[in-house]
Amino acid sequence: MRLVVVGGGSTYTPELVDGFARLRDALPLDELVLVDPAAERLEVVGGVARRILARQGHPAKVTTTTDLDAAADGADAVLLQLRVGGQAARQQDETWPLECGCVGQETTGAGGLAKALRTVPVVLDIAERVRRAAPDAWIVDFTNPVGIVTRALLDAGHRAVGLCNVAIGLQRKFAALLGAAPAEVHLEHVGLNHLTWELGVRLGGPDGPDVLPALLAEHGEAVADDLRLPRGLLDRLGVVPSYYLRYFYAHDQVVDELRAGPSRAAAVADMERRLLRMYADPALDEKPALLAERGGAFYSEAAVDLVASLLGGRGGAVQVVNARNAGTLPFLPDDAVVEVQAAVDGTGVRPLPARPLDPLYAGLVAHVAAYEELALDAALRGGRERVFRALLAHPLVGQYGYADTLTDRLVAHNREHLAWA
Ligand code: G6P
Ligand code: MN
Repeated sequence: MRLVVVGGGSTYTPELVDGFARLRDALPLDELVLVDPAAERLEVVGGVARRILARQGHPAKVTTTTDLDAAADGADAVLLQLRVGGQAARQQDETWPLECGCVGQETTGAGGLAKALRTVPVVLDIAERVRRAAPDAWIVDFTNPVGIVTRALLDAGHRAVGLCNVAIGLQRKFAALLGAAPAEVHLEHVGLNHLTWELGVRLGGPDGPDVLPALLAEHGEAVADDLRLPRGLLDRLGVVPSYYLRYFYAHDQVVDELRAGPSRAAAVADMERRLLRMYADPALDEKPALLAERGGAFYSEAAVDLVASLLGGRGGAVQVVNARNAGTLPFLPDDAVVEVQAAVDGTGVRPLPARPLDPLYAGLVAHVAAYEELALDAALRGGRERVFRALLAHPLVGQYGYADTLTDRLVAHNREHLAWA
């Protein structure tokens, strides 16, 4: 099996490689191709990737290249984990929305729209080249904003699935609290990427007993602490929101915190410098502990599971993915992309039926789904007015004055990435 990682020079790559090495029975990998425009970084990351595999006796060959077309040739699956503009662009996304009192975040709100506008055209170009070189390859997208990027890929007719680690992170957390094996914990995970709620936690399988009420009664404090939301709120909701819901449920508080503190982009940029120094050490042959401080914990496990199921090695797998709604959330258009449990096999992903979403959550999901549709329109067709419409539709912006100012800021900070600006 030949797997290609676009954005292979990312500091996350050792996380992925560690997963390939540990879970080799699930994924018979022959060749791992790391593609990245940053040749120097690619060499450093490629080096540590080879050493991690060698240490675990994994036979796969690691190739590095800046040539996407050559890399994609004969690929079975292509993983997208790129960041257009790097942490410097993220730093901007996290900063200018704050000037309007709006949250500054890489995927949520106006910053997330900027990221979508920079990213969608680049990803579509990559996907087109992949399709020419390897028409049957699966494209697995971790590139944010995953919901919008996945929708763009599917609309363009690609064999694509979107993936995020929020669900697997909660699954692991709940398993530890319950003293159960992760595979025994089945989440009723419903919503859009970075806008999800766990409506239930089934033990033993999708039809097992729902232990969420007991989990909240016993471990509500630990769960709430992780989300940085009050325990009382979780008790009142009776469901577990993802930590991205804090940007909605505690928006003004988050804005105050973001204004006071250094940005996440700055912290990550510092971590990346340290990680790259570690990776350059020829003695390092495992993923360093520092990597666990990044937000992407367990993403390697989720990726290995997904690729193994898509490439047909495993039947009957159920996994949280980003895929077409197709009636799963009846109040959304069929072609919207949702993040839910799905059956995954060699033929693709099929969302499983989900329990009806309370209006308390359905309203926000519908609102953000409409924003995502307008965001994709702006990303594909450009133009100031389309950016304005997406911002006016976003529940965290909404007012025309803010939408106008944020549109100007977004365009000013991203001119070099926007062909139309
Ligand atoms: C989680 C999210 C990812 C996001 C990451 C950010 O993993 O699911 O979509 O990219 O956090 O982590 P970072 O360490 O870059 O802040
Ligand atoms: Mn994510």
